[in-house]
Amino acid sequence: MFQSTQTPGTRIKDYELLIKQLDALSEGEKDEIAILSNASALLNQFLSEVNWVGFYIWKDDELVLGPFQGLPACIRIPYGKGVCGTAVKEHETQRIADVHQFPGHIACDSASQSEIVVPIIVDGNIYGVLDIDSPTTNRFDETDQIHLEKFVNILEKHLK
Ligand code: SME
Repeated sequence: MFQSTQTPGTRIKDYELLIKQLDALSEGEKDEIAILSNASALLNQFLSEVNWVGFYIWKDDELVLGPFQGLPACIRIPYGKGVCGTAVKEHETQRIADVHQFPGHIACDSASQSEIVVPIIVDGNIYGVLDIDSPTTNRFDETDQIHLEKFVNILEKHLK
């Protein structure tokens, strides 16, 4: 049921289906940990070539590890630090083709080569970030960014 077909040429349709699944799964649910847990599981199942998918939540002026799939990760990330802290500071998606070229990148899994971090903004305030790591350099393209931002928009709706 929650599997991408990964057929060439249908990537956008697959993303659209994934986003609908997130919306349906989260409908009527108020528990944020439950919503984010399912969201990380959905993405981990759907995306190829990823080694970490999950969330950091903004609490008391720093990011704190939330629901995720992958190896254990660093628990706290300060504002402006690493790719995640930069996404919070800039309020913008960070799509990093080669994490070794990103000054201050925080390596939680040495396998990670590229990364995308999408800020989650609820009612104009930072809620947290979606963070996805890949063992492949330049794994995430513009299509990924556009659809992961749409995925986060649906989350934002349910996290209000
Ligand atoms: N690489 C991130 C840290 C979190 S891990 O990738 C799970 C960063 O630089 O902010």
